[in-house]
Amino acid sequence: MASPIFRSSGDLLADRRYDYAMASKDDGDLVASADLLRQALDIAPAWAAAWFALGEVEQAQGLTGQAIAAFRAARERDPADALGAGLMLARLGAADSATAMSAAYVETLFDQYAGRFDQALRQGLGYRGPEILVEAVAEACRLGGRPARFARMLDLGCGTGLAAEAFRSHAAAIDGVDLSRKMVEIAAAKGLYGTVEAGELQDYLGRQPAAGADLIVAADVFVYCADLAPIFAESARALRPGGLLAFTVETHGGEGIVLGAGLRYAHTQAYLRETMAGLPFDLVICAEVSTRLEGTLPVPGLVVVAERRA
Ligand SMILES: C[S@@+](CC[C@H](N)C(=O)[O-])C[C@H]1O[C@@H](n2cnc3c(N)ncnc32)[C@H](O)[C@@H]1O
Repeated sequence: MASPIFRSSGDLLADRRYDYAMASKDDGDLVASADLLRQALDIAPAWAAAWFALGEVEQAQGLTGQAIAAFRAARERDPADALGAGLMLARLGAADSATAMSAAYVETLFDQYAGRFDQALRQGLGYRGPEILVEAVAEACRLGGRPARFARMLDLGCGTGLAAEAFRSHAAAIDGVDLSRKMVEIAAAKGLYGTVEAGELQDYLGRQPAAGADLIVAADVFVYCADLAPIFAESARALRPGGLLAFTVETHGGEGIVLGAGLRYAHTQAYLRETMAGLPFDLVICAEVSTRLEGTLPVPGLVVVAERRA
């Protein structure tokens, strides 16, 4: 995860101390870096980005208690938590990981990433989420003896529109939603969506007419959502009987939902099955896949296709 966005403190001297602190950190001098950040904070104590950076440096020094205090200070000064201090606190065991990921953090992360997203994911990480989902949906349709043709697809967390590119020959109309305005702009410019909205996917689903879609896709999106139960419930409402919900998740060998070092959630197969069990879904496909690499290693994941019961 990249360091948080640099936002000026409004004081040139504090900004310069911050720059020197980042240079010291890059040189591996964490003691000097922390010292310079404290100097910046003496000048600009309300500056959330410097508190966050101090938390990171203290965490790297193994000073867990001090790092927790610094991340708490960052979150107090940045209530929307665009910096992701809640995630750092959750990783340090000082916050509930299920509520740690703020919408402002996801929006900021992907606004920063949008311009280089397609290239970074495709070439850098070998990302194949949308293609894996097309194959899984086609297989689910084959098993059900039906054509892989859909009247209206919803693309949750559509990003730059890679899933619309993959599903374009399968869906007559595609509508998308994403928290990041910059991602939405790029997706809209591809001309593959009827509508693309900037917004939160659960709210978006809640505003959909009942039974108004026959395919809902979420490619590499639920890694940013801890509790999937309300999303599945809204999806069941938005899908017509026989409609499909298709998504990928990252997974792990333990129990429950885990917030990984990469600040993405991983869900187990058992969690998905239990969460869907109370809803009108039949699990058609739940298979191990990897949508992308981490370094040179495939990240363990699952592809799921569930059919809305009549
Ligand atoms: C890794 S990208 C994947 C984008 C696209 N689905 C694809 O396969 O290329 C994850 C996207 O999900 C969006 N996202 C994450 N959480 C979201 C939420 N709760 N509501 C709407 N969008 C969300 C992010 O803004 C980001 O664009």
